[in-house]
Amino acid sequence: MSGNKAVAYKSPGVVEVIDIDYPTFELKDGPGVNPANIGRKLPHGAIIKTVATNICGSDQHMVRGRTTAPANLVLGHEITGEVVEVGPGVEFIKVGDIVSVPFNIACGRCRNCKERKTGICLNVNPARPGAAYGYVDMGGWVGGQAEYVLVPYADFNALKFPDRDQALEKIMDLTMLSDIFPTGFHGAVTAGVGPGSTVYIAGAGPVGLAAATGAQLLGAAAVIVGDLNADRLAQARSFGCETIDLTAGDLADQIEQILGVPEVDCGVDAVGFEARGHGKDAGEAPATVLNSLMDVTTAGGALGIPGLYVTGDPGGVDEAAQKGSLSLSLGTGWAKSLSFNTGQCPVMKYNRQLMMAILHDKVSIGKNVNAKAISLDDAPRGYAEFDAGAATKYVLNPNGYLD
Ligand SMILES: NC(=O)c1ccc[n+]([C@@H]2O[C@H](COP(=O)([O-])OP(=O)(O)OC[C@H]3O[C@@H](n4cnc5c(N)ncnc54)[C@H](O)[C@@H]3O)[C@@H](O)[C@H]2O)c1
Ligand SMILES: [Zn+2]
Ligand SMILES: [Zn+2]
Repeated sequence: MSGNKAVAYKSPGVVEVIDIDYPTFELKDGPGVNPANIGRKLPHGAIIKTVATNICGSDQHMVRGRTTAPANLVLGHEITGEVVEVGPGVEFIKVGDIVSVPFNIACGRCRNCKERKTGICLNVNPARPGAAYGYVDMGGWVGGQAEYVLVPYADFNALKFPDRDQALEKIMDLTMLSDIFPTGFHGAVTAGVGPGSTVYIAGAGPVGLAAATGAQLLGAAAVIVGDLNADRLAQARSFGCETIDLTAGDLADQIEQILGVPEVDCGVDAVGFEARGHGKDAGEAPATVLNSLMDVTTAGGALGIPGLYVTGDPGGVDEAAQKGSLSLSLGTGWAKSLSFNTGQCPVMKYNRQLMMAILHDKVSIGKNVNAKAISLDDAPRGYAEFDAGAATKYVLNPNGYLD
């Protein structure tokens, strides 16, 4: 049996590549493992040799020390890999398959999974609905920024790519199917984007750029992306988005300059609870995005909110924010009959269709988010550059498939 190398969270601002155990078909005790999940048998699991595993803004919340993630938590929920071993309960996924793994872990057997609400599976996390690999409060499933990772309920969770060679050729696009492409697309769908829509997306990080790509696929007339980071706004313009520099003036005014009216049909929050206020030297102001989306989204419209909000944030700006309570002007949302759509993206609802769009050259998500492969050993550098606001989606290459 081989060993296993993985990226672990050590302390705020610090990640390290460490040695961990090769996966087994049982969930062992470890950092962040829910006690009721220890010793859980996983005959339905598959062991995956990682082909590509991406660093995400969701990881950054933990690495910045903005969650209750424990030290030594193995990170990584955006996993694409080759199946190297299957448990006795796996019927259809085979050794040698190249698969995309939704970041949500789902049993396929509970009420929510049956309704394709795989982000709130009832059977995988004893603490609350919904689980993920390598994430705080998500059950304790070992993360996949590693050479090998175990995927439970593999027949249900794994999406097999139809052809191995074709998959490896398009891997820098396909690797986005484990999270950000479906997540951004879900943000656009739940914001009500359709042919001819006008859309404002807050955040030009990878999720915002994926939402913009999704809005374009859905036929939006105008896709406007706002951020305070000039490089990321330039990345959004590189594939046809309009952009708004939030350091440089009022959001509604800038929307009016683009559309002729100070509002949009659909609003997407691709920022989350670490949002900054608008303006040049604005500090953190966690309700900014939600309140400004309520202001600029037309009455009767909808907000897609993939941006993450937490229930505990040790670094929150005030006591309320530390408990996840924000000062929302809900009256505005109520008066305008706005709909709100939050939560983990149920990746499985979209990943097959988006895979087909990639395989048939209908979309270049890897290029749009500026995907860049780096080695597993370089993960600490990738985390630091991403944290500093690089307009890059870092893809770790633990086993040399991307060379
Ligand atoms: N719901 C889900 O299933 C899901 C999945 C993946 C990621 N996420 C979440 O989506 C969010 C975005 O992820 P990412 O990887 O793109 O993160 P990121 O941190 O790279 O990007 C966030 C961007 O928001 C910008 N920003 C800050 N304040 C802003 C404001 N007021 N208006 C506009 N932009 C502002 C930042 O400059 C940054 O570029 C994160 O909160 C992440 O946790 C959710
Ligand atoms: Zn992610
Ligand atoms: Zn379930």
